[in-house]
Amino acid sequence: MSGAYQKAYDLAAKDPAAFWGEAANDIHFYKKYEKVLDDSNKPFYRWFTGGEFNTCYNAVDIHVKNGRGAQTAIIYDSPVTDVKSKFTYQELLDQVSKFAGVLAAQGVSKGDRVIIYMPMIPEAAFAMLACARIGAIHSVVFGGFAPNELAIRIDDAKPKAMVSASCGIEGKKVIEYKPLLDKAIELAKHKPEKCVIYQRPQATSPLISGRDIDWAEAMKSAKPVDCVPVKTTDPLYILYTSGTTGIPKGVVRDNAGHAVALRWSMKNIYGVEPGDVYWAASDVGWVVGHSYIVYAPLLTGCTTIMYEGKPVGTPDPGAFWRIISEYKVKVLFTAPTAFRAIKKEDPNGDHFKKYDLSNFKYLFLAGERLDPDTYHWASDLLKKPVIDHWWQTETGWSIAANCMGLEPFPIKAGSPTKPVPGYQVEILDAEGKKLPNGTEGMVAIKLPLPPATLPTLWQNDDKYKESYLDMYPGYYFTGDGGYYDTDGYIYIMGRVDDVINVAGHRLSTGAMEEIIATHPDVAECAVIGAADTFKGQLPLGFVVLKAGVTKDEKAILDELVKMIRDKIGAVACYKQSLIVKRLPKTRSGKILRGTMRKIADGETYTVPSTIDDPEILTEIAGYVKGVGYGVKQG
Ligand code: COA
Ligand code: AMP
Repeated sequence: MSGAYQKAYDLAAKDPAAFWGEAANDIHFYKKYEKVLDDSNKPFYRWFTGGEFNTCYNAVDIHVKNGRGAQTAIIYDSPVTDVKSKFTYQELLDQVSKFAGVLAAQGVSKGDRVIIYMPMIPEAAFAMLACARIGAIHSVVFGGFAPNELAIRIDDAKPKAMVSASCGIEGKKVIEYKPLLDKAIELAKHKPEKCVIYQRPQATSPLISGRDIDWAEAMKSAKPVDCVPVKTTDPLYILYTSGTTGIPKGVVRDNAGHAVALRWSMKNIYGVEPGDVYWAASDVGWVVGHSYIVYAPLLTGCTTIMYEGKPVGTPDPGAFWRIISEYKVKVLFTAPTAFRAIKKEDPNGDHFKKYDLSNFKYLFLAGERLDPDTYHWASDLLKKPVIDHWWQTETGWSIAANCMGLEPFPIKAGSPTKPVPGYQVEILDAEGKKLPNGTEGMVAIKLPLPPATLPTLWQNDDKYKESYLDMYPGYYFTGDGGYYDTDGYIYIMGRVDDVINVAGHRLSTGAMEEIIATHPDVAECAVIGAADTFKGQLPLGFVVLKAGVTKDEKAILDELVKMIRDKIGAVACYKQSLIVKRLPKTRSGKILRGTMRKIADGETYTVPSTIDDPEILTEIAGYVKGVGYGVKQG
């Protein structure tokens, strides 16, 4: 396979139509596309224009037609409810076509939006595929988000219907979703007409007459519906992700390009073939869940696993090894933080030793930087390749990876290896000049981006351009900083904007600041992501109180924690704020968040020449030291 990577990379760069046209042969089109790459409306590029398509057909029906009906499509393993179940491709087809019938009976049709707010149960995947089947556009919202965040998404996507469950189970806690859903609809200006609720025995919820429909009841009388052909470029889903403000970005994914690239990635990046068991230990609410719990494994004819549990505590740090061994998993994909959790509780791998992992081939990690310590611990334990790969909600699949199915390269700890064919990744300076290897700068990708990446933001071409394309004309700006080494390996060093990564969850410090600023005693604030040895980063707030506030400071700080929890959700992990006399700013009034982050992380920092009052940095260093920051974290 020597040279296979370079050959693929060069072809995808020089003749993307030839490269992706060839990849499209693995996917079924009702009507063949007219053009592989349509660049008639630059900088908006579209893939596989002019054809007709259905993603659900490619993920479900085709496998039944081709003889995989009896193969397990989805394994549901839920240590938190003590339930294990399996669905063959034939059973998946039955469930999905019937649930598509439920949605259709409620008047949902091609182009309508459906918001899915579900825990990690197979019904979440059925709902996604049912939407795809009838050409409705789904938008899955992560269950850890509070009603306010759900309401923001309802108002942007304007769904005709919602699909939810009575509750989710987080470790030992039962979290009632239905009251959160009701609250979100109350907060939102747009009112969805119907809500289909899957009642779970751990907590059933009363239904609102005329609006709510019981999933199980509706399925009893549902008429299965067939796949509805949509345009190849029609949206399959919208997935909201954190940007730099409180308004999340609605990343749009198209149908055909998405299927073609994901199918290619399974073979070439993950080294997976039809029939293999593939497990992404993530959540359907995140992009990893969309791409690698649901779509890519099913488009490939694999068996996918939906795991409703945690890496530790459900019941112990051997949970991942049990799943891998019990279901003969070939590839596991998860976030480094999950491995840090296992490492913390079982540093010597005593639980690991109890299981037979002979079918296991690769561990893939993404969602945040894979720190070398975690890399070494995991690879020493597993004695299998541990592959870091870098991607974003926007791209839908990885930008840089060690392509195991194409041509594996020696692994370098701290690097996701090389750009994946289709992505021309460059390191630029502030003016857009290409930087030499070894020099850190802004990471940008030359347009066009490959198939499956976002064609735009939901009903907001301007924001798409402004957020990603305007900074460097001809490029997509990733928001990450990084560099190439002299061997052409890329290193992604973290966000250069106000996005942070907490336990693999992408969050906006800007959104947190907007909430804190509404507290009546707060004059101004800044939230940064401070390094944390377990969760990667944790939000840390700096708050200046209004003059004359006499209220107990501890009470104010507790109120801030509650506000973030209520407005964004527990998943924000906002626990620590510091009351400071003032914030460090430039003379023009810009808050020096980058410098504050360096101080909190114990990194060396230079005092910016534009600072209005250098003394404040010493004070900030004193504050952060007082709460255990400011010391170099591993
Ligand atoms: N629904 C409701 N609440 C949720 C939730 C969900 N789906 N997911 C998380 N939460 C809550 C948790 O219960 C917790 O609440 P608490 O503060 O009341 O205890 C809070 O949000 C923080 O959750 P989390 O950061 O996940 O912490 P944790 O200690 O429960 O678990 C890890 C830590 C590392 C095990 C877990 O974060 C993990 O597995 N992360 C991997 C993330 C991932 O898969 N990312 C996708 C990229 S691959
Ligand atoms: P998300 O959109 O939630 O997938 O988050 C995307 C961001 O996570 C990226 O912009 C990076 O900052 C970070 N990220 C994801 N994977 C990696 C990785 N392998 N290495 C470094 N950072 C990563």
